[in-house]
Amino acid sequence: MDSQEKVKQLIELREKARLGGGLQKIEDQHSKGRLTARERINILLDEGSFEEFDMFVTHRTEDFGMGKKKFLTDGVVTGHGTIDGRVVYVFAQDFTIFGGSLSEAFSQKICKIMDQAMKVGAPVIGINDSGGARIQEGVRSLAGYAEIFERNILASGVIPQISAVFGPCAGGAVYSPALTDFIIMSEKSSYMFVTGPKVTKTVTGEEISTENLGGSGVHGTKSGVAHFVVDEEEQGLLLIRKLLSYLPQNNMEEPPLTECDDPIDRKEDDLNKLIPENPNQPYDVKDIIFKITDYSEFLEVHAGYARNIVVGYAKMGGMPVGIVANQPSFLAGVLDIDASRKAARFIRFCDAFNIPIVTLVDVPGFLPGSGQEYGGIIIHGAKLMFAYGEATVPKVTVTLRKSYGGAHCVMSSKQLRGDINYAWPSAEIAVMGPSGAIEILEGKAIAEFTDPDEKAAFIAEKENEYRNKFANPYEAAKFGFIDDVIEPRNTRFRIIRALRSLATKKDPGPMKKHANIPL
Ligand code: HXC
Repeated sequence: MDSQEKVKQLIELREKARLGGGLQKIEDQHSKGRLTARERINILLDEGSFEEFDMFVTHRTEDFGMGKKKFLTDGVVTGHGTIDGRVVYVFAQDFTIFGGSLSEAFSQKICKIMDQAMKVGAPVIGINDSGGARIQEGVRSLAGYAEIFERNILASGVIPQISAVFGPCAGGAVYSPALTDFIIMSEKSSYMFVTGPKVTKTVTGEEISTENLGGSGVHGTKSGVAHFVVDEEEQGLLLIRKLLSYLPQNNMEEPPLTECDDPIDRKEDDLNKLIPENPNQPYDVKDIIFKITDYSEFLEVHAGYARNIVVGYAKMGGMPVGIVANQPSFLAGVLDIDASRKAARFIRFCDAFNIPIVTLVDVPGFLPGSGQEYGGIIIHGAKLMFAYGEATVPKVTVTLRKSYGGAHCVMSSKQLRGDINYAWPSAEIAVMGPSGAIEILEGKAIAEFTDPDEKAAFIAEKENEYRNKFANPYEAAKFGFIDDVIEPRNTRFRIIRALRSLATKKDPGPMKKHANIPL
C-alpha cells in the first residue's frame, strides 16, 4: 500500500466508524425520535471542537458468534471538545451498535476519557442510550461497569459530571448516571430502570408499561431520579450547555463570573407588596426569584419533583449562585421527605463546587403525620440540616415570611453558619405558628369555655398576643439571629452586596476522613 492508499484507507475507516451500526440502524433510531450518538455530540459541543478518541476500538469477544460481528468504536463515541470555549470530556453511547450495550473495550474507552478529565480538571458529560451490560461478554462487562462506577465516585465533588439519558437505559446504564451530579431525560424517548418491564413481570408478576416503570414522568416527579426533563433531546443538550455556564470546571476553581449589565441596585417596588396580608395565603416564590436575579433568569433543577421547595441556578451581579426557596404555593412550602432530600443534594453540590447559596425562607415547619414518620422524615430532614450546616460556601438567607420551629433552624439559620441573614418586615420567626402555640399553651383554659363565641374570642386574643410577640423579625433581630431587616424592594442589591463581601470567605472545618451524613 503506498502512502496515498494508506490515507485513503484511513478516510474509509473513519467513514465506516461514523456510520455506527449502519444506515438501517440509524434509520431505526431516527424513526423512534432519537438522534445518533454523533448527532448528539455535534449539538452539545462548540462547532468543530470535537476531538475523537479510540475510533478504531472493537470488542474482543468470540463467544455467541461475536467474532464475526465487530463494529468500529464498539458502540460508544468518546473524546473531548469545548462548550463556550471551555474544555469538556464526553462519551455518547451508540444504540445502533449492539443496542449501546457495554463491553469491556467500551468501558475502557469511557474510563480513558474520565481519567483524562480528572487530570485536566474538566467536566464529563455522558450521553446514555444503552441496554446495559453486553450479555455476550458476561463478567467482563460487569467489571467494566464497576470500573466506571469507581471513577464516577472518585470524580464526585472534583469535576462536574452530567448525564443525559436518551433512550431505554437499563441495568448498569442507569447506575452510572445515578452516581453523577445531574440527570437529564427527554420526555419522548427516555426510560430508566434497573430491570425492564419483561424482567419485572417474570420476577414479581407485576405488569407495567415501560412508561409507567421508568419514563421521564416517573423520574421527573415521583422518584426524583431525573433533575431535568425536556421535551426533546436537542433541548436537553442545549440545557447542558446552559447548566455548565453556572459551574466551575472543577472544585479548585471559582464558578465563572460574567459581565452584568443588569443594575445590581435595581429596586423592585412590587416586592414591597408581594406578601399577602393573610399569612395563610399562598404566593409563588418564583415571582421573587425572577425579580432579584440577573436578567430575571433562573435555571430550575428538579422543577417537577418536591415542588414545595424550589432549587436552581441564577447569576447575581454576574456571580453564579444556587438558590433554595420554600414554595408557599405548593403544600404551603412545608418541608417533607422529598423536599429535604432534593434541597440537601442541591446544597451539597453547590458547596462542593464553590457556588454561594442564597436561601429564601417561608416555611411553616416539617410535614406532620405517620406517612412522613414511617418514611423517615427524621433522617431525611436531618440531611438538609447537615447539608446546610456542613456547607462552607457563602450563605445568604432572606426570611420572607414564616420561619417556624425545626424548619427555621434547618433553613440556613445563623446557627448553622448562615453568614448573612436578612429578614423582610413580614417575617415571622417562632417555635410554631400562632394557632398551634395557643392550643398547647392555653389548651386547658380553652377547654373550660362553654360558649363558642367566648371561646373563639379568647383564642383570637391569645393568638394576637402571640403574633405581636413573635410573628415579626425583630425578636430574632434583637438577639442578632437576623443581621438586618431589609426593605423587600432592595433585596437584589442587599444580597449581591452581601455576596461580594463574602467572596473571600474561608471557614475550614475540623480535619476528618469524611462526615457521616444521615443517609
Ligand atoms: C447485548 C443487547 C443488549 C444487551 C440490547 N441489545 N441490549 N445486546 N447486550 N444488554 C441488542 C439487541 O439484541 C438488539 O440487537 C439491539 O441491541 C437493539 O435491542 P432491541 O431489544 O431490539 O431494542 P428495543 O426494542 O428498543 O429495546 C431496548 C431495550 C432491550 C429495552 C434496552 O434491548 C432490553 O431490554 N435489553 C436488555 C436490558 C437489560 O436487562 N439490561 C441489563 C443488563 S444487566 P440486534 O442485533 O437485534 O439489533 C446490567 C448489569 C449491570 O446491566 C450491573 C450494574 C450494577
